[in-house]
Amino acid sequence: MKILGIETSCDETAAAVVEDGRRILSNVVASQADLHARYGGVVPEVASRKHLESIVPVLEAALETARCPLAELDAIAVTHGPGLPGSLLVGLNAAKAVALAHDLPLLGINHLEGHLYANWLVAGVEPSFPNLTLIVSGGHTDLVLMEDHGRYRCLGRTLDDAAGEAFDKVARLLGLGFPGGPAIERSAVGARPALRLPRARVAGPYDFSFSGLKTAVLRLVRGELGEVPPAAETAAAFQEAVADALATKMVRAAREAGAAEILLSGGVAANTLLRQAVTARSPLPLRVPPPSLCTDNAAMIAACAHYRFLAGQRDSLDLDIQPNLRIG
Ligand code: KG4
Ligand code: ZN
Repeated sequence: MKILGIETSCDETAAAVVEDGRRILSNVVASQADLHARYGGVVPEVASRKHLESIVPVLEAALETARCPLAELDAIAVTHGPGLPGSLLVGLNAAKAVALAHDLPLLGINHLEGHLYANWLVAGVEPSFPNLTLIVSGGHTDLVLMEDHGRYRCLGRTLDDAAGEAFDKVARLLGLGFPGGPAIERSAVGARPALRLPRARVAGPYDFSFSGLKTAVLRLVRGELGEVPPAAETAAAFQEAVADALATKMVRAAREAGAAEILLSGGVAANTLLRQAVTARSPLPLRVPPPSLCTDNAAMIAACAHYRFLAGQRDSLDLDIQPNLRIG
């Protein structure tokens, strides 16, 4: 079974063809990162205009690379939330147009669920249930217990900034550029952390908070905590604090929920220190997608749709965007 996936929830215009939920026949991503870099973050209006320009060429490239004419497709899957409304609309309307013109089933997919499925696109094994996933991206920091395909329980989430958002904001404070995650990771290589930054205390056992950490970095950079350390050492201290907070709660949640395996998903899952922190704290097998599948892509959307399709999901052409969709 071949599914065409479409993803335009933020600043990547992406299309992919995936066979049987596992085999990537094509995975095309047109990133707008350079376009937004000069603003230091994603500008929603700019993003939706760029999606409009890119969507047709990206779709054509995905079908061509997969050597898959539209007639060979079994379904069209598209991210319908969460995300930026103007961006989501471009992908959703493109998907509806293809579904209508070629009489193909349409499936609306939750972007966050898509991130989970990036883990099995490469592993070649079935998921073990229950598994515990940390979805860490620019928009989300969710600890999710996956009990079965399509059955999720959100155990905790961030109360303020998402981890990726904190990386982006701190990188801006340190003048390291955008996107901030890779910039901070590069800068911190070989650097000694300047100091031990504070870990937030929050009421929920599996909830997170990163705004205090961001303020601590701001005060450090302004010289309010003494001599201003080199950016690399501040980057190292920040990265260490985020990885420690995420890994500690993730591993505790996995143990208490009796998870069979643990997974990292989303852009921040590309961070090496985070992976190491989780592995060092947990005896459970850890799955992490390769970096290209951690950040937004459409292969993960098509992979998730495979299981949704088998479970009978079919959406009508009335399907609408859900910018605030959650998981669990
Ligand atoms: O999943 P994603 O591509 O888009 C969203 O759905 O948000 O995640 C993007 C986020 C950005 O905040 C970016 O700074 C962060 O992931 N990121 C990283 C790394 N690579 C990307 N954060 C830490 N370390 C990285 N290597
Ligand atoms: Zn994402």
